[in-house]
Amino acid sequence: MRYLTIALAKGRLGKIFDIFEHMGIDCAEMRDKDTRKLIFTNEEYKLKFILSKASDVPTYVEYGAADIGIVGKDTILEEGRKLFEVIDLDMAKCRMCVIGPESSAELLKHKELIRVATKYPNIAKDYFYNQKHQTVEIIKLHGSVELAPIVGLSEVIVDIVETGSTLKANGLQGLEEICPLSARMGVNQ
Ligand code: PRP
Repeated sequence: MRYLTIALAKGRLGKIFDIFEHMGIDCAEMRDKDTRKLIFTNEEYKLKFILSKASDVPTYVEYGAADIGIVGKDTILEEGRKLFEVIDLDMAKCRMCVIGPESSAELLKHKELIRVATKYPNIAKDYFYNQKHQTVEIIKLHGSVELAPIVGLSEVIVDIVETGSTLKANGLQGLEEICPLSARMGVNQ
């Protein structure tokens, strides 16, 4: 019998495992933070769980290597892979925002040519070019994006705000909201 394969993003998975355990699927082995295993098989329900980097989850689903993927809406939007998004899991809720020092609010208002640093260049491009019609220079970073406006790399950043504590700790503000985010279930088309 064929297995149903579910791709999950490594890290921050506690609540997803809670759902599976509620359904009677034992996740103890996957919960082990020290494990280096990437594939977990449940023979009882004929399930295979694959743990990949978040940004690769939609790729596994598009090509059918996974039947189902559970990943953040931010990743689905950024990767632009072909999948059917079927369920909003209503967890890991946060917002994609344009963030910067208070002084950058005017630059956004007057649609100045500014630099935007982000881990999400496709989301940033879509927002500034297609929705706001503002020409900007997008600079791709890989993490700790809040540094960029502080050290003068960019005027603003596009990033996730969850509790807002990272912003606050770095003297930045949410200037514009791009979209709400949460964990989604996507399936192969
Ligand atoms: C994310 C995001 C923000 C932070 C927001 O970063 O990029 O920096 O969380 O959360 P908060 O509003 O609750 O403070 P992550 O922890 O993934 O690390 P990274 O910046 O290195 O990617």
